[in-house]
Amino acid sequence: MTETLDAELVRRVDAYIERLFVPRDEALERALAMARAAGFPLIHVSPNLGKLLYLVARMMRAARILEIGTLAGYSTIWLARALPPDGRLVTLELDERHAALARENLEHAGVDSRVEIRVGHAAGSLRAMIAAGEAPFDLVFIDADKESYVEYLDLSLQLARPGSVVLADNLIRHARVLEDVPQDAQVRAIKAFNEALAADARLESLILPIVREKLDGISVSIVK
Ligand code: SAH
Ligand code: DHB
Ligand code: MG
Repeated sequence: MTETLDAELVRRVDAYIERLFVPRDEALERALAMARAAGFPLIHVSPNLGKLLYLVARMMRAARILEIGTLAGYSTIWLARALPPDGRLVTLELDERHAALARENLEHAGVDSRVEIRVGHAAGSLRAMIAAGEAPFDLVFIDADKESYVEYLDLSLQLARPGSVVLADNLIRHARVLEDVPQDAQVRAIKAFNEALAADARLESLILPIVREKLDGISVSIVK
């Protein structure tokens, strides 16, 4: 018997993997409950993608992590837990309300001492960090406004070193990137990002399709 790749099947496969590999976790679940109660958009990474972020950070022994787009700190908790005790994570967030709740969630998860949230437009924060001669990051996770992804990649690479890993979320958008000329401005921006990433001579990259409620994808790149 064959089954078509419909949304329901995708959801069931995602849930199957989650049941096997992502144990329930009080601090992570609380972070999501708080975000829901505050009326924030529920656009955090899925539990399975959180686990992937954690594993990549552990595999490369990342001691310095940069995240662009904090929201309520859900992905931040996953990444911060991968750090060694003296590791650092800097996460960039535009919305002060998001940053305030993230601070609370990070504290509850016991990772706040390793995390610094910088509030403001991420591009401005990145430029300030470059100007200040900030030490390079081992791992960068791009997950904020889609229209700025190309700029975030260029700025991030000025805060990276050979061997640094860059990940970017939401690159398939329910397969809408397959449209020749997408109506949606975000999908157009993501298409442009994917093409820029594929052509970027500074990196070796791939997009992994990710199933959540729908089909999406995350890129994995290594800086040459
Ligand atoms: N990484 C989070 C989800 C981030 S959602 C998680 O998986 O848990 C995207 C976030 O980017 C939102 O909180 C939004 O406020 C923030 N954002 C949007 N535009 C931004 C900008 N220009 N600079 C910094 N953050 C921005
Ligand atoms: C959406 C999901 C995300 O992970 C994100 O960063 C932004 C938007 C969404 O599903 O709309
Ligand atoms: Mg995302």
